Amino acid sequence: MILNPSWENIQRAAKTLREGRLVAFPTETVYGLGADATNEAAVRQIYQAKKRPSSDPLIVHLSDMSQIGNFAEIYSQARLADTVEKLSQLWPGPLTVILPLKGELAPSVTAGKQTVGIRIPSHPVALKLIAETGKPIAAPSANQFSYVSPTCAEHVEKSLGDEIDMILDGGKCKVGIESTILSLVEEKPVLLRPGIITRADIEKYIGPIDVKQSFLSEEQIEECLAPGMLKKHYSPNTKLVIRGQLPTEYYAENVGLIRFSPETETSDFNYRAVSTLSHTKDLNAVASNLYDAIREFDNLNLDLIVVDSCTEQGAGAAIMDRVKRAAH
Ligand code: TXA
Ligand code: MG
Repeated sequence: MILNPSWENIQRAAKTLREGRLVAFPTETVYGLGADATNEAAVRQIYQAKKRPSSDPLIVHLSDMSQIGNFAEIYSQARLADTVEKLSQLWPGPLTVILPLKGELAPSVTAGKQTVGIRIPSHPVALKLIAETGKPIAAPSANQFSYVSPTCAEHVEKSLGDEIDMILDGGKCKVGIESTILSLVEEKPVLLRPGIITRADIEKYIGPIDVKQSFLSEEQIEECLAPGMLKKHYSPNTKLVIRGQLPTEYYAENVGLIRFSPETETSDFNYRAVSTLSHTKDLNAVASNLYDAIREFDNLNLDLIVVDSCTEQGAGAAIMDRVKRAAH
């Protein structure tokens, strides 16, 4: 059931979470599928609903910076506390940090690991819901495992409507792709998932960081730092390719083009559908509209979806990361 985010409905959703049930809610990045992160049975329902492997840990969502120390061990190492303090200037916002685990989270949240992913989202509905629940909220993106993340309430209803009682509608997600993930558990910080908060944005606050090559095979997943970093992820059912990467003799009848701006030519195919994500090639708009366009085209019974590309700089790095995963 999709509900508007009135104060009454937020209170209802908070009660549902406290009772150990699932609520889908909006964040600025994508919609999350939330459960009380201290309730093991509730957290297990997330994995079940999404058909997600239990080895893939969840991000814990908090409403306030001051709660981090309850769930992550940051104050015993001065350098770590200092790094978190510096990064807090980016919160609330689309940056998740991986920290040493502390305290009373349900074991399934971290998939048994001794580290935890923490995020303080900036969407007002998410913040109100978390605060009103009074609990840390474990939430992955609210889609079936390995499908495209949802950027509006209707996407959630379509993928998981039968599995969950409540979807809070906060409109279309502004950012449109998942949060940046930065691990702080190694000697030097490591960027595990690029996002709209870029490497340069982070380095401005904490100096040089490493970037982990995140395209891993299924065999490598066990040792992988962020187990969700599978090559095939965020992918539609329709075959998807990056523009310019098709063999020249390739022929298909029913092809759709998702382009980043009107400058991209449409003469290479007899396209049946064309979606233009931005009128000015503004990468924030491209990110914001990308998943919605992929989902829409996935419903058109096309033989092929062709997606534009851009330089892997700044937000372009995050966009091309998602496009490559969708294309795999
Ligand atoms: O923007 C987002 O981050 C959204 C919204 C709902 O907050 N959430 C999201 O969650 O994208 P999910 O589960 O789809 O992706 C979380 C990623 C997974 O790849 C997971 O493996 C990684 O975070 N992760 C979580 N905890 C981790 C940990 N302790 N160590 C390494 N990776 C972790
Ligand atoms: Mg996900």
